Amino acid sequence: MPMQDKIKELMDMRAKARLGGGEKRIESQHRKGKFTARERIEMLLDEGSFEEFDMFVSHRTVDFGLDKQTYLSDGVVTGYGTIDGRLVYVFSQDFTVFGGSLSEMYAQKICKVMDKAMKVGAPLIGINDSGGARIQEGVKSLGGYAEIFQRNILASGLVPQISAIFGPCAGGAVYSPALTDFTIMSKGTSYMFVTGPKVVKTVTGEIVTDEELGGAVIHGSKSGVTHFVAEDEQEGILLIRKLLSYMPQNNLEDPPVSPCDDPIERMEDRLNEIVPDNPNKPYDMKEVIESIVDYGEFLEVQRNYAANIITGFAKFNGFPVGIVANQPSYLAGVLDINASRKAARFVRFCDAFNIPIVTLVDVPGFLPGTAQEYGGIIIHGAKLLFAYGEATVPKVTVIIRKAYGGAYDVMSSKHLRGDINYAWPVAEIAVMGPKGAIEVLHAKELSQIEDDQEKVKFIAEKEQEYKMKFANPYVAAKYGYIDDVIEPRNTRFRVIRALQMLATKKDSNPPKKHSNIPL
Ligand code: HXC
Repeated sequence: MPMQDKIKELMDMRAKARLGGGEKRIESQHRKGKFTARERIEMLLDEGSFEEFDMFVSHRTVDFGLDKQTYLSDGVVTGYGTIDGRLVYVFSQDFTVFGGSLSEMYAQKICKVMDKAMKVGAPLIGINDSGGARIQEGVKSLGGYAEIFQRNILASGLVPQISAIFGPCAGGAVYSPALTDFTIMSKGTSYMFVTGPKVVKTVTGEIVTDEELGGAVIHGSKSGVTHFVAEDEQEGILLIRKLLSYMPQNNLEDPPVSPCDDPIERMEDRLNEIVPDNPNKPYDMKEVIESIVDYGEFLEVQRNYAANIITGFAKFNGFPVGIVANQPSYLAGVLDINASRKAARFVRFCDAFNIPIVTLVDVPGFLPGTAQEYGGIIIHGAKLLFAYGEATVPKVTVIIRKAYGGAYDVMSSKHLRGDINYAWPVAEIAVMGPKGAIEVLHAKELSQIEDDQEKVKFIAEKEQEYKMKFANPYVAAKYGYIDDVIEPRNTRFRVIRALQMLATKKDSNPPKKHSNIPL
């Protein structure tokens, strides 16, 4: 066959592969408000940067008449391209081919890009839209999943891994996204669950819809399985691009620096007024964050889950940081099981990828009660403690108001290798709040006072005494636990100076196979 005909044959095959499961199924995908696998890749990557692998792969199963049903690409589109000029690897599941279900060859295609991502050192992005294991392939499909899981595990902490869920993701298939660093779900068109509503009804009798069981809103608020809830796929894709702008390509590189003309010495007078005089009154910690970071831009992670702690990315003078902050306007900023788990995972991500951590503290302590104790707050709280103590990236802490009890230690204190620890003049650093402390310290005297009015007067006096002694940052500063007490409006400048000073910081942990974080 002459060359021209050969080229035409190639073009025809490419065109066929690009149609996936065919026009009808593409139309059906669009009718559901979803994009196709290739459209998603086009939106995600820089224009014209996509290079596809394995377009001519097809499955090799003959059972159930599958030998008569083959599709080029076999239900998943894989390859590489760039985002803001930086290399990324990508796979995108094609629901138009056997419902995006995973076959042996399909898994091999995904494993190929995962292996490349690890060898070359570039992020991996997986777009999920699949009916799970391809039923006709049986154990070959299950094996394929496990091959992917194994690579997710090996790539963890080596290159950033991001999962988008833009359709079904059910059964064991959920575990690949769960092993990655960040998950994004689209509202109304995606769901994740280990067992679907039908099985749930049979086993437990519960009647739930897909959305109620594993929709984006549920996983963004109740379970914390997803880190981001996007209004639609386009927003989800923009989020992936944005997220990557805070991350290095791999664990051996530093995060990318961008030009910044937001002045580093910008004073924020309103910060001098933001903390109410009454220590029991809340304020919004997000206002503090937004006033100190570059251009007020903050990419919040897990916004609607465990809102008593805030996690997210921002930049200081163009340098990316991870921010962890207690939120006094939600459950008084207390540390509980969910908040501890949420922040611990975030701190570990930042540490794995050389992203400095800025911690803003206003925490009354750990949440008391049987629900928390029975749920294992001891173990979960230890996760956050462990994560901070293990982290070797630059750690800058500002105690905004309260830092009580064990929570003082946990929140990136000097004792957990905090590099620079500042406090605002209104900071209160003590073993516990005045009320609790007086009840313990003066229990005997209190039991001997019979008159109620006398009792109230006694408590008020002792509380005042206690506040004078402990409700300030100077006791901690006296011992060097606080490096300086800073004026609130100058916080941006002081944090940036600290980060600049720490830019070449080197620290390490003792050599070992791996640590044993309390899971
Ligand atoms: C083979 C599948 C498939 C599957 C869907 N299809 N799921 N083919 N294996 N797992 C095919 C359908 O036959 C159909 O083919 C096309 O994909 C579209 O499916 P529809 O049902 O028409 O689409 P929709 O109504 O949108 O429903 C989507 C769905 C449903 C909810 C995903 O298809 C479904 O429930 N599928 C089965 C899900 C499942 O139980 N999977 C196994 C989970 S266990 P045609 O030719 O008509 O277009 C698992 C284990 C993983 O995954 C273990 C890892 C360790």
